[in-house]
Amino acid sequence: MLNWDDPLAKFNELGFEPQQTEHHPQAGDGLVPNETLMKTAGSAPVVDPVLPVSDTPSTVGVVADVSVSTYNSDTEDAELTGTGLEDIEMGAERIQVDDKKIINCRADLNQLVPFKYEWAWQKYLDGCANHWMPQEINMAADLALWRDPNGLTDDERTIIKRNLGFFSTADSLVANNLVLAVYRHITNPECRQYLLRQAFEEALHTHSYQYSVESLGLDEGEIFNMYRELPAVARKAEWALPFTKHLADPNFHTGTPENDQKLLRELIAFYVIFEGIFFYVGFTQILSMGRRNKMTGVAEQFQYILRDESMHMNFGIDVINQIKIENPQLWTQEFQRESVTMIRDAVELETQYARDTMPRGILGLNAPMFEEYLQFIANRRCSQIGLPEQYSGAGNPFPWMSEVLDLQKEKNFFETRVTEYQTGGTLSWE
Ligand SMILES: [Fe+2]
Ligand SMILES: [Fe+2]
Repeated sequence: MLNWDDPLAKFNELGFEPQQTEHHPQAGDGLVPNETLMKTAGSAPVVDPVLPVSDTPSTVGVVADVSVSTYNSDTEDAELTGTGLEDIEMGAERIQVDDKKIINCRADLNQLVPFKYEWAWQKYLDGCANHWMPQEINMAADLALWRDPNGLTDDERTIIKRNLGFFSTADSLVANNLVLAVYRHITNPECRQYLLRQAFEEALHTHSYQYSVESLGLDEGEIFNMYRELPAVARKAEWALPFTKHLADPNFHTGTPENDQKLLRELIAFYVIFEGIFFYVGFTQILSMGRRNKMTGVAEQFQYILRDESMHMNFGIDVINQIKIENPQLWTQEFQRESVTMIRDAVELETQYARDTMPRGILGLNAPMFEEYLQFIANRRCSQIGLPEQYSGAGNPFPWMSEVLDLQKEKNFFETRVTEYQTGGTLSWE
């Protein structure tokens, strides 16, 4: 489940032309681009996508449900449709599995069962079984190493600080996107159950970075403001913000082809790219340090976080593919080209992040290795959502990262403790 090597069914193309997006930021919601951030951030490069044209309608795994409901805003009840807060209809017919849809569902969202999407419920259970807390991890060795003037090189210290700077605000951005934008538009109780679990995990991740900053006695003003002050960090957040802010607009509703595509585009931006590409240079750098027995407490936390993030990404990919199955008309040629462009732009941005964070090779790593790794990952991401791979021949320079991501093989990675411990999933009443 946590392995990105798992093949997914390929989907082809159907549909209509997409529309341009509009943005409606809300002050104070954490999803508004800030002026400093926008000033420091550069614009993403434009790359022509390479997308083969197919005239063949998809038949693989596609359920024949092509209807798209139109949102009705005539009444107050209609305003609440799909939120789970509608009036209870006493004596209404019981919900059947076939009533459930991943978006634009009109069935009561307060009833978890019967399950339709078992994969979503299973991910919720798996997330709970892998529960962890940052303060359980001993940071004494990290602090001693950090304080030792000869313990780390300047480049190694830069990697630690830059990644804490990026992730400490990136996880808050993901959490705000989940709670304020995604949750309302996913109209399925078992998926929402996982989203609630994911939201808590994002809080744990932000907690984890704060705990690391505090444990090492770092300048928290410097770390938490990199998001605003350091272009290499700011660029990635600036790239993601436009995708979330219109979905957080209270006047935004799915139910039209244009808006359903906006949601689908946003899910790709956050689950496939932000969590599935933008996190991977930082994860690899920190975990590589841990493999060399440096900053093992920080590295262990990043390993737990990577395990969580891998599941978040896989959940998002399942949601995207389920939306495609239920709404094949959204997956147009134009939409696919746009998605490919997004992924290619993201690879450029993350490659630049690798160059900025490690101008010289250290820890057996260098920026060109990351460029290939990101192309390898991007190929995986493309195939996972049914897009053609973009970088032929890209190999994986870090096969050990795949080992980290595979739960079945994962144990005692840094010789500190078994990391596949589980809670909650093994209760016995005997
Ligand atoms: Fe996270
Ligand atoms: Fe996440």
